Amino acid sequence: MKKSFVAMLMTGVLTLGISVAAATAGSGDDVASACSSCHNLKRVCRMIGSKNKAGWEKTISRMIKAGAAVSPAKVGPFAGYLANQKPGTGPVCQ
Ligand code: HEC
Repeated sequence: MKKSFVAMLMTGVLTLGISVAAATAGSGDDVASACSSCHNLKRVCRMIGSKNKAGWEKTISRMIKAGAAVSPAKVGPFAGYLANQKPGTGPVCQ
């Protein structure tokens, strides 16, 4: 009984870990698909690590003016994702 409870707990922790990882990767995939229609993602990847969140918000707003299909509600999350991404990693840099 006690053993199966521990096993259940472990499964819960594992599932939680996996869903957090999936959520992070998901926003990366979102950014990658929204930002690759006009230019190569290399253009985005190159700037990771050199813009902070406010800088990315400005860039994304400029992209929206150029015609990017990003809803206003996504500007913050996209900018946050890009500002926190390690240079050279994630779906944007693959
Ligand atoms: C509608 C077309 C279009 C889409 C979609 C688009 N861009 Fe751009 N992007 C451009 C154009 C045109 C330029 C070059 C002119 C400029 O810099 O404004 C550019 C340049 C850039 C640059 C280099 C200039 C700089 O300020 O660092 C970055 C970074 C960038 N885009 C990021 C993004 C991101 C992030 C997305 C997704 C949210 C995105 N782009 C989606 C059109 C687009």
